[in-house]
This record gives sequence, C-alpha cells and structure tokens, in this order.
Amino acid sequence: MKQQKIVVLGTGGTIAGKSAQAGDNIGYQAAQLGVAELLDAVPGLPAVLQDCELEAEQVAQVDSKDMDFGVWQRLALRCEHWLAQPEVRGLVITHGTDTLEETAYFLQAVLAPDKPVVLACAMRPATALLADGPQNLLDAFAVALAPSAHGVLAVCAGQVHGALDVRKSHTYRLDAFDSGEAGPVGQVEEARVRWLRPCAADEGAASALQALRGAPAWPRVEIVMNYAGAGGAAVDALVQGGVQGLVVAGTGNGSLHHELEAALQRAQAGGVRVLRTTRCAYGRVLPKPGDALAVAQGLSPVKARVAMLLSLLAP
Ligand code: SIN
Repeated sequence: MKQQKIVVLGTGGTIAGKSAQAGDNIGYQAAQLGVAELLDAVPGLPAVLQDCELEAEQVAQVDSKDMDFGVWQRLALRCEHWLAQPEVRGLVITHGTDTLEETAYFLQAVLAPDKPVVLACAMRPATALLADGPQNLLDAFAVALAPSAHGVLAVCAGQVHGALDVRKSHTYRLDAFDSGEAGPVGQVEEARVRWLRPCAADEGAASALQALRGAPAWPRVEIVMNYAGAGGAAVDALVQGGVQGLVVAGTGNGSLHHELEAALQRAQAGGVRVLRTTRCAYGRVLPKPGDALAVAQGLSPVKARVAMLLSLLAP
C-alpha cells in the first residue's frame, strides 16, 4: 500500500499575493507566489499532515476576478486525475476569494467527489503584517484529512462551507464568507474539525465533466438584474449578440419590471434559456403557478449561471 497523499493545486489569488509595503492590504498584486512558496510559509504543516505525503502542482496563476473557462477546464481535469489515484486522500486548492464560490459550485457539479476537495484562500496578501493565508491553508489540510470530509468545501477564517451555500459576503474582513441561512458545515479549531452538520455533497454528475473535456469554449450566459427603472434594452442587445442563456437577479421573490420581464419572455420564446433568481442575500425565489420564467432552485445568480453553462454544455 502506497503512502497516502494530499495534493495541493495552486491557482493564484490574494493568498499568493505580494505588496510593495507590508501594511498595504488593498494595493497589492494577487497571484505572485508559487504554490510551493505558500506551503513553505505554513508552520506546523508536518504535524497536521502526520505521515501523509504532500505534492504540489501549479495549475494556474490568476487573480480570480479573471477566472475563465480554460482555467476551470484545466483545474477540473487535474482534480479528476488526482482524485482517481488510490493513494490520494484529498485535494487542497489555493484560490482567490472573489470568484471562489463559483469555482466551488462548478467543481462540485462536474466532479461530485467522494474525497474532499478543499478550497483555501486569504483576504490579505502573503506579505501583509497579518497574513491569513498560512492559517487558512493549515485549516484546509485539517479538513482534507478529517475522516468524514467529502465533496467540495471551502475554508476561511476557521469556518468550513459547502460548495452549494458558500458565498463571499464581505469585501474586507478576514472572515469574508458565509453560507447564508444554511450556515457553515463545520469549524476548524486547533487543527481539528468540528462538524456542525453533514457535508451535503451529493450534487453533481460525472457526465458534466465528459462534456467539459472536449468543449472548446463555454456557451454565452449572462446575468441581468432588476432594479427601479430597469428596461428591456440590455436583454434585447444580448439576444441580438447571440446570448444562449440569461440569468436574471430579480427583486424580492424574483419580481421583474414589466419591461424587463417582457424582454426576457421574448428572449425565451426565441430559444434563449432564462432562469429567475433573486438579488436578496437571504431566501429563495418561490415559484407561483403560471409563472412564465423558471426559477433557479435557491441558487444565487452566479451559481445559477454556472448551472446553466453546464446544462448547455451537457444538455
Ligand atoms: C482574487 O480573488 O484572486 C483576489 C482577491 C482575493 O483573493 O481576496
């Protein structure tokens, strides 16, 4: 039996960021340090890993605001490769905070892994006076090694979140993530995970990964929003431009300005997929009989967009 292993995949983000001055927490450059350098800066790692081996691979080096289809495709395929190795117990992925929730949802949808895939991030660059990356990384290893961990999870500021619910909810604080009404799935305390509820990680299908493998690009799916005075011009322009799917972040229970709703119904009648979500931070859109536009089953606008992208790739 080979020695068990945790594989760390680097993708960039603030966790790998550098600034010219240690006190500068906003004027830094994300995605500067390689994943091996990040691991070197984590004291106490051997104690958490115990007799598990560590292997690191740089899959990308991006500020996650620039995340794109190519990186997601490469990342998913590297995850698939490593998860298939019997000696690999789990994966840790270093990632920027800005689109982490989209990557988490995407990876859960295409991999539906039995093993843990844990996203680690930071709100301060590696050069900060109080860099949070090393502790978050250490916590991510503790989660990846926890006996009942499975599925795609995210770790930030001692909280463990599931892929379905995790969302960035603060622009600056170190504990920048929450899981909305569902709450976190667990907490990491002194390298031990205290589960608060089971990791609900049964979403996803390997068929989505098959479709992704050969796809040259992703379909065009855009997000539009309802607000006071919203009209239909943006939707009409997107349809003219060849959009294949539209997610609308409605107000309240998914309500839409009548002009925007009319434009979305025209788009749908012309073959564009349309899903209704809400711009509210809490709650979900509750459908009513006779609704012309389908609702996104509690997904946030950005996650509903990922779901639509994947459904267009693997209908
Ligand atoms: C990024 O998302 O890559 C930059 C911001 C961050 O990681 O906090």
